[in-house]
Amino acid sequence: MSGTELHSENPLREGLVGERQPEPCAMVIFGASGDLTKRKLVPALYTLARERLLPAGFAIVGVARREIPFVEQMREAVNKYARRRPVDPGLWSTFGSGISYVAGNFDDPATYERLKSHLEAVDAARGTRGNRVFYISTPPESFEPILQNLGRAGLISRSEHPWTRVIIEKPFGRDLASAEALNKVCLNVLREDQIYRIDHYLGKETVQNILVFRFANGIFEPLWNHKYIDNVQLTVAEAIGIEGRGNYYDQSGTLRDMVQNHIFQFMCLMAMEPPVAFEPNAVHDEKVKVLRALRELPSDAGSIADWTVRAQYGSGYDKGQPVPGYREETGVRPDSRTETYVALKLFVDNFRWAGVPFYVRAGKRMAKRVSEIAITFKNVPHTLFKGPSGAQLGRDPNVLALRIQPDEGINLKFLSKVPGPTIEPRPVTMDFRYGSSFGTEPPEAYERLLLDCMLGDSTLFTRGDEVLESWRFCTRMLDGWAAADESATAALPSYEAGSWGPKEADDLLSRDGRVWRKP
Ligand code: BG6
Repeated sequence: MSGTELHSENPLREGLVGERQPEPCAMVIFGASGDLTKRKLVPALYTLARERLLPAGFAIVGVARREIPFVEQMREAVNKYARRRPVDPGLWSTFGSGISYVAGNFDDPATYERLKSHLEAVDAARGTRGNRVFYISTPPESFEPILQNLGRAGLISRSEHPWTRVIIEKPFGRDLASAEALNKVCLNVLREDQIYRIDHYLGKETVQNILVFRFANGIFEPLWNHKYIDNVQLTVAEAIGIEGRGNYYDQSGTLRDMVQNHIFQFMCLMAMEPPVAFEPNAVHDEKVKVLRALRELPSDAGSIADWTVRAQYGSGYDKGQPVPGYREETGVRPDSRTETYVALKLFVDNFRWAGVPFYVRAGKRMAKRVSEIAITFKNVPHTLFKGPSGAQLGRDPNVLALRIQPDEGINLKFLSKVPGPTIEPRPVTMDFRYGSSFGTEPPEAYERLLLDCMLGDSTLFTRGDEVLESWRFCTRMLDGWAAADESATAALPSYEAGSWGPKEADDLLSRDGRVWRKP
């Protein structure tokens, strides 16, 4: 279906199974010609259809400026990117017939008038009953005009029936002031419970499993505090560079792109208190407390370097192929001081975490792609075992590593006696791997999150106050860096593409007598 041509029959109504079944609705995607729609959103919706998790009445409406053959493009996208590919022709005839497109400028009220009558026709043809998810996946400068125009055109229902929900892609602001301003615009047209600020890391199975691991097992939670934990390391290393996104990345940098959102989100899940229930506000309340407890970093140019390291990748190798340095990438200013790597030392100043450093590092063009949380426990208080020369044995700490991606799993390092006549403790690991234990491939983050939004469950999204708290903290850091840049003439430290980051990051830990884990 394209334009306003509509098909009325909808075999998706038949045979739906599963408890989690949303009410009929239309999903309107602003930014329909963009990469996210093609790579993630429509492939995720198609997979949900294949798994019979979409509602009986369902439709997708793409909105973007240019006229494009949207339906054909989406079929290609599903063939290329969906987890359940290639396209099943029978399913496509149903799913694809519910896809349509409205071209228009996001600033032009006429676009929204056209969209409104188009959606009325969709309701009639597909049985979507006036329920709408608006997914705003555009560059951030369009967020505000879209929200305001949706409100003015009467496209937002504040009632329960029919309902309206709005998903907002990142970045939700670029500092505290802009995030506050955007939040105000959202709250002018929507209630907080209608706003779904998406962070796709929360949709990852392994990130959700942090909560199950902590709160459904009796043995770990009693140890989950400063009495037993020496330090926590959070790593999000990417082997890719900026992938042709120089214009965006150079205005953003790793702190805004990865730390303020993804890393802080899973750090919150790792550090928070048990919520009273697994429901949205209870979980958001606990996460926001962690962010409030983050010890403020000094914002002066002199001391910020004791807590944070910024660096840029230089040229190097990726899978044996030479790759350019960051400043040589297209769209990047040759004198750019935007970071492609950060390392931070943080403290969560509360009863549970007093004195435990949280070391965070994230970067592009690192040695390999790996995201993990590694918890190093305190050593035993006394060593019983001695080697022949009198050296103390058995002081290698236990490490619990929650592997978020790839090779999703959890492993625990502990000491074991090497078989033989002497006592020789040596580290061994207990391993859990999702692949071998469950034998199924985990769903894509967007599948889970789009489904949750249609179900009205915002537990795995972020509430306004969480986003603002995290920006409050990061903006202070950005101010400190800006102050340091004013007096700086030298380039940021650099690291070779394909390495584990700059020497300065190693120094950050060695000053505390610690080293980064090599995942
Ligand atoms: C995005 C960032 O939010 O997350 C990208 O903008 C980054 O720069 C990506 O590469 C990482 O996501 P994932 O799911 O591939 O780890």
